[in-house]
Amino acid sequence: MTNSSQQNNVRVPRRLLVTGGAGFIGSNFVHYWCENYPDDRVVVLDALTYAGNRHTLAALEKRPNFRFVEGNICDRALADRLLQAEKIDTVAHFAAESHVDRSILGPGAFVQTNVVGTFTLLEAFRQHCNTLSFIPPVDGGDRGGVFLHVSTDEVYGSLGPNDPAFTETTPYAPNSPYSASKAGSDHLVRAYHHTYGLPTIITNCSNNYGPYQFPEKLIPLMCINALIGKNLPVYGDGQNVRDWLFVIDHCRALDVVIHRGKPGETYNIGGNNEVKNIDLVKTLCQLMDELAPDLPVRPCSNLISFVKDRPGHDRRYAINSTKLKTQLGWTPSVTVEEGLRKTVAWYLTHRDWWEPLLSEEYQAYYRQVYVS
Ligand code: NAD
Ligand code: DAU
Repeated sequence: MTNSSQQNNVRVPRRLLVTGGAGFIGSNFVHYWCENYPDDRVVVLDALTYAGNRHTLAALEKRPNFRFVEGNICDRALADRLLQAEKIDTVAHFAAESHVDRSILGPGAFVQTNVVGTFTLLEAFRQHCNTLSFIPPVDGGDRGGVFLHVSTDEVYGSLGPNDPAFTETTPYAPNSPYSASKAGSDHLVRAYHHTYGLPTIITNCSNNYGPYQFPEKLIPLMCINALIGKNLPVYGDGQNVRDWLFVIDHCRALDVVIHRGKPGETYNIGGNNEVKNIDLVKTLCQLMDELAPDLPVRPCSNLISFVKDRPGHDRRYAINSTKLKTQLGWTPSVTVEEGLRKTVAWYLTHRDWWEPLLSEEYQAYYRQVYVS
């Protein structure tokens, strides 16, 4: 796979701290990065919450320039030690509590990790930059280090059917404890650039899908439920719209932002793939019928059941990625048809990855959301 930096033959290896690297997007990013930049140092910091899975990174653990550290982003002393000992120049900050339904059940953890955790990392990075009194040049010296904050389109709130898609200047209007905590962290990141001159960049991305996504999210939940013959619970009337992006295209976007993004800027990332939930679920059912030989219930769509809506459920998200496309040259490479087919095939062939995640804790969570 070629990318921006391979065209530059004087590239100096980076030293990355990837928070949340054992989660869905973080682990895809770490695999992507190690494949494309094998000379870079990659240190993963992850607390291994219910959503973190070290097995996902097993293939990388033997590499000499890869390190996994189990720890919390709220632990300032640990963050200080890692930044300094590993001479980090690039923080890719994915760690978060990320599921809206869990934020409705228990918002405290979201404020702690998403707001306090991000604040802790920013303070550690600020001190790190001051102590070094420089940020090591990378990419042949044309750019220094960066604190990349990976955020969400949910900070912009909900769109009506005919509203234009979110741009980088859309006012923030978060509606769930999850999106409010992400909005809070975005504001801190912005302020640390404005006040202290830290080289921070924020990305706001739409719904991701692909391999290694925890079973609680819409697409893996539907795939796994179909495979075990459980109902496919569609919230409300199923007419809510999301803009879907294959996870590797998100990683490619973060690559160009890390290498060529401008500190202090925000970049929106989206797939330009708006789909109603019910249509998405029907497409997944068709793929399941086609690809899975031993489905317990067939046609799979017989399992679709409309359930009580999510409180405060945002109606529509849509992202305008023109800035990223025109300024940094990124475009998504995977169509939604192709991406969904790959994803369904992945869940079909990776039962060993997801089956252990259907734990007693997960069943208890499931009952709270879907049965009460
Ligand atoms: P995820 O829930 O799959 O993974 C989160 C990871 O963070 C896990 O490995 C978890 O163990 C770790 N973590 C949680 N709390 C931590 C703490 N206090 N200290 C250290 N590690 C901790 O999440 P994801 O879907 O991969 O999302 C990653 C980031 O991308 C999040 O910041 C999320 O807001 C953002 N995002 C997600 C999507 C999406 O569709 N999933 C879209 C846009 C943006
Ligand atoms: O937009 C980006 C966001 O996308 C990220 O910031 C979040 O971390 C990520 O979880 C995701 O949020 P959503 O709430 O949009 O994703 P989720 O997969 O939970 O739900 C997608 C849509 O499907 C949403 O409209 C709710 C609906 N849904 C979800 C589940 C889990 C159902 O109808 N039934 C379900 O069982």
